[in-house]
Amino acid sequence: MTERKEQQIKSEKRVADFGEVLTARREVEAMLDLVKNESERIDSRFLEPACGTGNFLTAILERKLKTLRARYRTKRADFEAQLLSALGSIYGIDLLEDNVKESRQRLFELAVQCYKDSLHKKPDETFQNLIRFVLSKNILQGDSLNGIDKITFTQWTLIGYRFNREEYAFQALNNKPEDGLDLFGTSSLNEKQQPVYIPQARKRFSPVHYRKLLEGTK
Ligand SMILES: C[S@@+](CC[C@H](N)C(=O)[O-])C[C@H]1O[C@@H](n2cnc3c(N)ncnc32)[C@H](O)[C@@H]1O
Repeated sequence: MTERKEQQIKSEKRVADFGEVLTARREVEAMLDLVKNESERIDSRFLEPACGTGNFLTAILERKLKTLRARYRTKRADFEAQLLSALGSIYGIDLLEDNVKESRQRLFELAVQCYKDSLHKKPDETFQNLIRFVLSKNILQGDSLNGIDKITFTQWTLIGYRFNREEYAFQALNNKPEDGLDLFGTSSLNEKQQPVYIPQARKRFSPVHYRKLLEGTK
């Protein structure tokens, strides 16, 4: 993989139209250090609602991949399942299609490079497609201010070698109990008697072995 040249501005027009000024690596790392433990945990979930070309997303993935390599490089199935779990925990939205493509591509390249470095071979076509599939569900083109009703997120939960896959409307995830939008009456109280909002999935898939994620419904 060739070293990527850091570029914070693509054009003055894009700055004016979309506020597109990308964050430099040093600042990204300093910000992630504020949540260091979470950023290094393989399945901790992150959402970048204006992800640009993926400067935060890739830095988060790199941290997770370090943990992955330290823990799971001996057995292929463990490594692969955990790699998909790491990718499945990172979410991004951007208004611009080219930024979404670039973010997905950068994450894909990092994942494949880590695979090669760890298992000393290229991932097979099926596994590359699995990586692409997870990225296509998590890195989305959309408007995170005015278009959240059109955004659906997938929650990936790895249990052994199987994934539980559930789809949630972004709008539902954004509701708070005080909004009075207690979807299907599932809001309950925690031990301090404060309301806890439990969003309802829009769609649930049967748990499936990670290698079979692409079989059946997408
Ligand atoms: C300031 S850049 C930051 C990009 C990235 N977060 C970074 O730090 O490198 C802002 C990005 O937000 C995107 N954007 C602006 N308004 C948005 C919106 N309403 N929903 C989603 N993305 C948006 C732009 O396309 C641009 O890529």
